[in-house]
Parts: sequence; structure tokens; C-alpha cells
Amino acid sequence: MRVAVIGTGYVGLVTGACLAHLGHHVICVDNNPAKIEGLQRGRLPIYEPGLEDLVREGSASGLLQFTTDLRTGIQNSQVVFIAVGTPALPSGDPDLRYVEAVAREIGQQLDEQYRVIVNKSTVPIGSGDWVRMIILDGAAETAKQRLSSPEEGKVEVLSERDPDGELGGVVTQGLRPASASSESCWMPQFDVVSNPEFLREGSAIHDTFNPDRIVVGSESPRAIQIMRELYEPILSRQKGLSGDPVPWVVTDLASAEMIKYAANAFLATKISFINEIANICERTGADVTQVADGIGLDKRIGRAFLNAGLGWGGSCFPKDVAALIQTAADYGYEARLLRATVEVNQQQRQRLVEKLQQALKVLKGKTIGLLGLTFKPNTDDMRDAPSLSLIEHLHKLGAKVKAYDPIVSGSGIREGLAHVVVETDVLRLAQDCDALVLVTEWQEFQSLDYSHLAGLMRRPLLIDARNCLDRQALRQAGMTVLGIGW
Ligand code: UDX
Repeated sequence: MRVAVIGTGYVGLVTGACLAHLGHHVICVDNNPAKIEGLQRGRLPIYEPGLEDLVREGSASGLLQFTTDLRTGIQNSQVVFIAVGTPALPSGDPDLRYVEAVAREIGQQLDEQYRVIVNKSTVPIGSGDWVRMIILDGAAETAKQRLSSPEEGKVEVLSERDPDGELGGVVTQGLRPASASSESCWMPQFDVVSNPEFLREGSAIHDTFNPDRIVVGSESPRAIQIMRELYEPILSRQKGLSGDPVPWVVTDLASAEMIKYAANAFLATKISFINEIANICERTGADVTQVADGIGLDKRIGRAFLNAGLGWGGSCFPKDVAALIQTAADYGYEARLLRATVEVNQQQRQRLVEKLQQALKVLKGKTIGLLGLTFKPNTDDMRDAPSLSLIEHLHKLGAKVKAYDPIVSGSGIREGLAHVVVETDVLRLAQDCDALVLVTEWQEFQSLDYSHLAGLMRRPLLIDARNCLDRQALRQAGMTVLGIGW
């Protein structure tokens, strides 16, 4: 199948590379020439395990191509993915500028060939219909240019009122030169479907090939059939040890859009829940890891996403929970549980600073070393990373902050890192520290020589803010160890 993917961010690039690996002809489009040129040379804009190999493989086979020209991209494509960013505005609403621009441009390029336009970007509930309208507007603009001649005058946009007014009042039904008969009405042939993405950074490729489900929201049997064919190589695989096929979930557009928000909001709430339990554990003498193991065995609860720590960050949870709260507010509902989820998450970062204050008393003049900077391991993503809040809090309190991160230290990434000295190795990090804080649970932190590090520190205090290290071994290494929720 011929596929275009618009936007080569995390989701777009992984989707494109994986679909090419499955044998589809994929062309990835981005309006950033430097990015496209880099990708054509095999240089990736993000770090994601395994992605570079897939891009190289796709480029070598010719199944994966890159271009800045959207027209070339969609010309022969049956399926067009919109995978551009929807960053949060200060209000919490997602910024749909990029989706709108791309939808309009897609409309301008449509011809008689039927296409499935897939919303892969996380967009507010109801956006599928809005995207459809923008595409039609784009098509109308081009049709006006193409069809109108001095004699014919104008192209008529055939519209009907949207009874609920939710789509801006008018729904375009078709395009027709003013002089033509109603039979010559030209309607671009396409359907918009929602196909939310559930991949996690750091395991994006594995998640794409082994999804828990594939969700497609559409009322068009033709579009659903094409999407099924597109994903057939994944759907026909057997899932895990159970051998069951990957669930294929077909819903209406709005429900598919909501599934994405609800999934992320639920997972974020699960983490905030266990962090709240952790805070109560600390005060009552219980150990949150044992509690999580105990409750996680209940099939109705499950152990995943019950790791207490510094809370959630990254590009998805903060943005999507904020957007869902805002959507609820737009419809006159106050999402109190979700507000609390966000509040607990913000407080969790502050609590870590309080823990340091309790242990070191005055933080002014103290040196704190952070093990890890990225919002989670196996990524170079710093978006809403808890480390950034810690650095700001500690800096305000007059502490000197140093950090070592397996990826960030060796990269040029310095955005948001003005108030931290980024060290190139752990030994330099530990030197003269009053405390080390393990912020990101990178695998390599499991096997550090902690007794050597303890010897380099001014005070051998380690806060394991992800509860991922062996406390007993650390104590034997001469460290004073604190964690979260015990
Ligand atoms: C998330 C969703 O998992 C994914 O389905 C969606 O498509 C995008 O958002 P991602 O942001 O890549 O993926 O990371 P994820 O592994 O889900 O972790 C999110 C945050 O939660 C991280 O900051 C992580 O440290 C934190 N987390 C996760 C916890 O604090 N405890 C846990 O038990 C699990």
C-alpha cells in the first residue's frame, strides 16, 4: 500500500519506519528541510532504540522516502497520516495550528482518487469532523483556482447548516462550477479516520509491532477496510504467549479520539494514586513497593504503572491530561479527579526537595548531583522532565546542581539546563556532592560502583527517587539511602 506520513516527529517517524518495515511504500513529509535532509542521510532528529536501523533499512530498500513536498507525498498515496505536533497552549488546550495547516494543504492537493486521511496526532474530541471540514475548505480553494475561468466566474461550495453548530455552522457537501449542472458537482473522495497512537518512548518500535490493540474510529466501511489491510501484517501476528490475535477495535470517530485521552489520563491517575499511597506509606511505616506488588496481583488493578517516584512527565501525559480537563470545562464539567491527578504530580517533585531539606537542613551552598535528566530512560526527551523542576527548585534555594545523564551528557541538548552543570561522567558528578538523587532509572545506574562514589562525596547520601536500586547493597557500599514511599 502507498502511504504518506505528514510530520516526522516521534509518532510520524516511528509510524513511517514501521509501516515501511511491514512492506508498505511510505513517504514521510516534513516542512523542515534540515530535518528531511538529515533523514535522507540517515541522521535521526530523536533518539529511539532501533529506529535508526529501521530508517536505514527502509531507505536502502526504497520503501521509505523523505520529502519536504507535501504534494509529492500525497500524490499517489492511498492513506495519508497526519502526525504533526499538538503542543499545549497556556490554557491547556492543544494548539491545532499545525493540524489545520496540514489538513488545508491536503485538501488543496486532493484529486479524484479516494484517500483515507488518518488523524494520528492527538486531537480534541470532535476534531475528526473539523479536519474533514478544513480539508474540504482546502479542496474548495484549489477547485476555485482550477475551475474558474473568466466566463465561468465562480465555483460554488455546496453546503448545509450543521444543526448543532459544533462544526462552525456549515458543512461543505461538494464543489461545483457556478455554470455547471448539479451532476457535475465534484466532491473530493476521502474519509477521515482517527487512529490513536499508544507507543511509549524508549520502546516505540516494540510497541508499534506488538500493540495491545489497534483502534480505528470511522463510520466508513471503505476506510475501515483499507486501515485493516494496512495493519494486516500486525493483526495477523499472534500476541504474546497467549497466541491471541491483536484486538482490532472499531469505534465512531469521537470515541476513538476519547480512547487516547482516557488511556493517558487513566495511566497518569494510576501513577499519581501510587505516589499518594507512597506519601502515606512514608508516614505510616509501610513500604510502597511491597504495597504495589500486593495490590498489583489483583487482576482488576494490575502491577503496571504502580511505580512510585517523581511522577510523570514527557510529551504526552501532561499535555493530554491538561487537554481533557480543558475539554471537560469547555462542556461545563469540572474534572476534579483529573485536577487532583495533576496536583499530586506537581507536589511529588516539591516533596523531593523537602526530603533533601530534611536530610541536609540548609540547601544554600550545598551541592546536589542528579543521576539522570530525561523524563524516563532510553530517550533523549526532556519535555516536562521532573529533573527540570528539581533543578529550578534547588537553584532557587541556593544549591549548586550538577547532573549526569547517559544521553544528555554526550549530546548538545542544553535547553532548560541553564542552572545545572552537566558532567560527562558519574565520578565527576559525585565529586564533592552533599547528596545524589537518582532521577531517571537508566539501566547503567544499576551497576555503578557506589562505594567508590560514596568515597568521592562530601556526604554519602543517595535518594533513590525511582526506587530502582538495591537498598541493602547501597548501605553496604557506605551510602545513606532514602527513597520514595518507605
Ligand atoms: C505515554 C503512554 O504510555 C503511551 O501509551 C502514549 O502513547 C504516550 O504517553 P511515554 O510518555 O513515552 O508514553 O512514557 P511512559 O512509559 O508511559 O511514562 C510516562 C511517565 O510516567 C514517565 O515520566 C515515567 O517515569 C512515569 N511513570 C511510569 C511512573 O512514574 N511510574 C510508573 O509506574 C510508570
